[in-house]
Amino acid sequence: MTAHTPVLLDEVLAGLAVQADGRYCDATFGRGGHTTAILARLGPQGRVCAIDRDPDAIAAGRERFADEPRLTLVRGSFGRLAERVRAAGWEGELQGVLLDLGVSSPQLDEARRGFSFMQDGPLDMRMDNESGLSAAQWLARATEREIADVLFRLGEEKFSRRIARAIVARRALAPLVTTRELADTVAAAVPTREPGKHPATRTFQAIRIHVNRELEEVESALPQAVNLLAPGGRLCVISFHSLEDRLVKRFMRREAQGDPVYAGLPDIPPQARPRLRLVGGAVMPDAAEVATNPRARSAVLRVAERIAA
Ligand SMILES: C[S@@+](CC[C@H](N)C(=O)[O-])C[C@H]1O[C@@H](n2cnc3c(N)ncnc32)[C@H](O)[C@@H]1O
Repeated sequence: MTAHTPVLLDEVLAGLAVQADGRYCDATFGRGGHTTAILARLGPQGRVCAIDRDPDAIAAGRERFADEPRLTLVRGSFGRLAERVRAAGWEGELQGVLLDLGVSSPQLDEARRGFSFMQDGPLDMRMDNESGLSAAQWLARATEREIADVLFRLGEEKFSRRIARAIVARRALAPLVTTRELADTVAAAVPTREPGKHPATRTFQAIRIHVNRELEEVESALPQAVNLLAPGGRLCVISFHSLEDRLVKRFMRREAQGDPVYAGLPDIPPQARPRLRLVGGAVMPDAAEVATNPRARSAVLRVAERIAA
């Protein structure tokens, strides 16, 4: 099993401004890189509730942190963040919530998870591989138009229609069941090559985001995270592609401005007041981090602080 190197670790710790006796939620536990660093800064009263929808992540975490009483691990999606935090037996307010979005290195590197066109494996791509439709099942059922739409919207793939046509033609002969079959079908349909990029990169990204409902999950989690934070508590979100980052940026800005209907008015009702204060701008990894961890390349961290309404 491969390891996962936590991205922007020092920047996340600074963003969370970890307090020794605070309560933190790492909503994307992965292999626990960020959780480990948070725990190292906590005293005996501090706590971390860590969530992941991937059964492998939770199993690895339970083994590695078996002797860590300050950590509660919860399996489930962060789209229902409030419920997950309650499932950990936690009521009350948090000092920090971290969302380190996207996939972990073990998910990408293990052929059996079906995320990668670099290795042949079952065409799965589900983070929670025990529920929902796999990529193969979705590709077997979706219409040509649905496939093209997903590739265009979530992969920003300019050959989306050609690729969708090729997938539908290919599945008429035999269902697509492996990552290699999909990668080869896409490569044959794409007429040009981007330097240093496999022609199926955008297709795999798009299908992964769709199958895991990644944007919907983030949209649902962000307001819940703000509700869970105590005044002064921090929200840190690391995104790995522009669609995700745009969503996070807009959400934080909106929450930092309050309801525009009341802008400039002397009396603003509590529910229309700003709930967040932006802490700095977008933070990217430096060259040294990207050199040691190429997967950090596209990471963008945004931090905001909950303010009392
Ligand atoms: C980039 S990795 C996190 C790595 C982690 N910070 C570390 O240092 O080991 C993202 C993790 O979030 C999980 N994940 C992604 N979307 C999720 C969701 N909607 N609900 C719960 N977990 C999710 C994935 O399964 C994956 O394990």
